[in-house]
Amino acid sequence: MKILKDKNCLLTGAGSGIGRSLAIGLAKEGMNLFLADIDIKNLEKVKEEILDMGVKVYIRKCDVSKFEEINEMANDFYQKFGELDLLINNAGTAGGGFVDAIELDEWKRVLDVNLWSIIYSIKVFLPKMLERGSGHIVNTGSGAGIIGLAYHPHYVASKFAVVGLTEALYSELYNTGIIFSVICPIRVRTNIGRSSPIDFDPQLFTVTDQEEIKKKFENFKECFAVEYFKAGVEPAFAAKKYIKGIKKNRLYIFDKRILRLALLIKGIAFKRGWKAIIRKQRKEDYAAIETCLIKSGLSTKEHLKNTLGNRI
Ligand SMILES: NC(=O)c1ccc[n+]([C@@H]2O[C@H](COP(=O)([O-])OP(=O)(O)OC[C@H]3O[C@@H](n4cnc5c(N)ncnc54)[C@H](O)[C@@H]3O)[C@@H](O)[C@H]2O)c1
Repeated sequence: MKILKDKNCLLTGAGSGIGRSLAIGLAKEGMNLFLADIDIKNLEKVKEEILDMGVKVYIRKCDVSKFEEINEMANDFYQKFGELDLLINNAGTAGGGFVDAIELDEWKRVLDVNLWSIIYSIKVFLPKMLERGSGHIVNTGSGAGIIGLAYHPHYVASKFAVVGLTEALYSELYNTGIIFSVICPIRVRTNIGRSSPIDFDPQLFTVTDQEEIKKKFENFKECFAVEYFKAGVEPAFAAKKYIKGIKKNRLYIFDKRILRLALLIKGIAFKRGWKAIIRKQRKEDYAAIETCLIKSGLSTKEHLKNTLGNRI
């Protein structure tokens, strides 16, 4: 979508992080904004930041993992804004841990928020866009939708699906006038790490008292959020890149060149280069987990080695 001024955008997950920065960036471009999030208090703060930028701003609470809520939000949107020019399905959650410690409910939660929300959104908003023969749908995927990162199997599964779904829609609806993009962030310093569950088998801990585990786990999460995102970028920086990509109608929108390089290596050196990259990534991520489990007092290097054995 080359010109954003005076056009209408519906953006989910606008209360924090990337969504908040996208909202501010799009308002600067002159877009009217219908902002949704499950956290209405944060949305109110974002609205305050945008109010005197001279664009129309409306906020609405919506749990995107529920079809009925997206449907009701759509009715509200069309009543208040009329036409939908840009739909950004950005709301998302993360999750981490070791695959055997992640319960089915947690798999379902992550897939509901990250994948089903986009399926619902497409079901609800696509027909009117097709009727009109215009519109731009942007889904927030992830670098984890391109690289199979260890210790986030449910998140990776949801984001690979979002990337694949966006490509499939781009392909199927190429001549309809609708544009599709997928944003693939990597390590943007937002709230996502702190707000998402991380699941470990309690055997990994040297501590057994439940209260103590709970307290130390908070320290672990804080440590991990810092370690994991230390090479990250700020959301405002990333959002600028995403808006540039939206204006250029790009199918893939990256905030770091490394993902393009990764795709190239996946294509030309799959057997040796790619597998080495994913194994190296696992080592780095394990090192961050280990450091934080030890620093937070939940475990020791020796105990982890004894419990995890050849999985390290
Ligand atoms: N931060 C990163 O490094 C990173 C990397 C890759 C992908 N992403 C993706 O970027 C998107 C934005 O994440 P972020 O990093 O800004 O995180 P964030 O936690 O700061 O923001 C996510 C927002 O989504 C909202 N949300 C969560 N569940 C919701 C639901 N069920 N209904 C409605 N709103 C809901 C949250 O309230 C929050 O405001 C997500 O899709 C995430 O997966 C982020």
